[in-house]
Amino acid sequence: MQEQIVILDFGSQYTQVIARRIRECNVYSVIVPYDITAEQLSALAPKGLILSGGPASVYARNAPLPDRAIFDLGVPVLGICYGLQVMAQFLGGKVEPGRKREFGKAKLRVVDSFSPLFANLPEILQVWNSHGDKITKMPHGFKSVAATENSDYAAIENLDRKLFALQFHPEVAHTPQGREILARFVHNICGCQKSWTMRNYVDIAVEAIRQQVGKERVILGLSGGVDSSVAAALLHKAIGRQLTCIFVNNGVLRGREECVVREVFGRHFKMKLQYVDASKRFLTALRRVTDPERKRKIIGRTFIEVFETAAKRAGKAKFLAQGTLYPDVIESVPIGGNPSAMIKSHHNVGGLPKKMRFQLVEPLKCLFKDEVRELGLELGLPREIVLRQPFPGPGLAVRILGEVTPDRLQILRHADTIVVEEMKTTGWYYKIWQSFAVLLPVRSVGVMGDERTYDYTIALRAVESQDGMTADWVKLPPELLERLANRIINEVKGVNRVCLDITSKPPGTIEWE
Ligand code: XMP
Repeated sequence: MQEQIVILDFGSQYTQVIARRIRECNVYSVIVPYDITAEQLSALAPKGLILSGGPASVYARNAPLPDRAIFDLGVPVLGICYGLQVMAQFLGGKVEPGRKREFGKAKLRVVDSFSPLFANLPEILQVWNSHGDKITKMPHGFKSVAATENSDYAAIENLDRKLFALQFHPEVAHTPQGREILARFVHNICGCQKSWTMRNYVDIAVEAIRQQVGKERVILGLSGGVDSSVAAALLHKAIGRQLTCIFVNNGVLRGREECVVREVFGRHFKMKLQYVDASKRFLTALRRVTDPERKRKIIGRTFIEVFETAAKRAGKAKFLAQGTLYPDVIESVPIGGNPSAMIKSHHNVGGLPKKMRFQLVEPLKCLFKDEVRELGLELGLPREIVLRQPFPGPGLAVRILGEVTPDRLQILRHADTIVVEEMKTTGWYYKIWQSFAVLLPVRSVGVMGDERTYDYTIALRAVESQDGMTADWVKLPPELLERLANRIINEVKGVNRVCLDITSKPPGTIEWE
């Protein structure tokens, strides 16, 4: 069994970050709800436990509290922020509201340089805090190993029982030595090897896929995006020609999209690839449609119809493969009875035919996005695919405001190609979440040479984001913006004005429709 660290989620916005940091130490980690029983935990055979932070106060009436017996499993435990308070309160200490909330950067002074979490680190460390409560009485058998100006108990430990707790957040970038501290916990204290690598994962996943699928056939809807592409490459490695990939040209793809997919998956990987050019059908269905939701519905419905026909043609498949990722399957915790913490809008889940009775194969469902990219490179996929920015399923249709016509598609496709080219040349493409062009239905007056023009407007959108849920606009250098505007106006027939979208999300969305 893969060595693993289990993270109990008390609702912190950083829980997934903890899991990712642990995996960056080449140790596998999973997230479970805080109320998992000690018995269920034992069955996971964790090498160590981490109690995440969370928004609650341990002394509040509805505070989320773990099974008390988890501290008696004999497994090392690290409490972080709220996790520290849980540990303190359960093990005989006392937690009370602090006089001052500690939020943001703080200086941590290590007072016990023999502590296994801090040995050989500088005596003064910069750390990131975010808490209002603090320990006022130490739990039994614990000692303080580090302090901040506000708290004498910023890091505590009970070495005999291998229990450790930190008031600050080691997982965030604002705690520069945080990774080092977490690495010490997983390697030195829990004794984990560096066994979690994408090279090892390929073998594990290939074996698991073969076990699940046996001699049956699998179909996969290939979109050209990172997730379905990596899933395809992995499945192909595992089961070769038992896999059929179906790639639907929905008429609203970016320029050269279908060429890249056919080249990479068909010719290079020699996968069984069914290319379905349904562009006419989609564009006919979209004729005269201007409402964004209707566009999305039409594209979604047409896709299912086309996919169903293609799947039948592919022969009798028992399995449908999907590129579901770990963040989509982690069970959210409704902390303090607040169900809004559970609302997760996700565009990619559940889009495929329900009446087709497939069993699912989801070979990426324990991976984070950065791991999927690494796996893609490991499997030999080109950087052009692995480092792709997200692209919406309804494609350019939701970036053409108003009716989607062949003429407008041509305009946007051309502008989009220029944006991608320039962003890649300058390296910005790889640094940010998304950058693209939007075609507005507005025409305005301009002059080109001696001629008066009356043409369309392109809006440029460039955003940075962690997960697409919130986003901020990117302050691209003026020289790059200038070049984009010049090229688009000079090269794209039908456009005479370029604007920059400087809206964050919320209140805006990333896509315009
Ligand atoms: P919004 O516009 O909701 O977008 O702020 C958030 C992220 O989701 C992408 N997006 C989609 N992805 N199918 C997808 O696979 C869709 O229908 C879809 N709509 C939006 C969007 O590009 C952004 O990254």
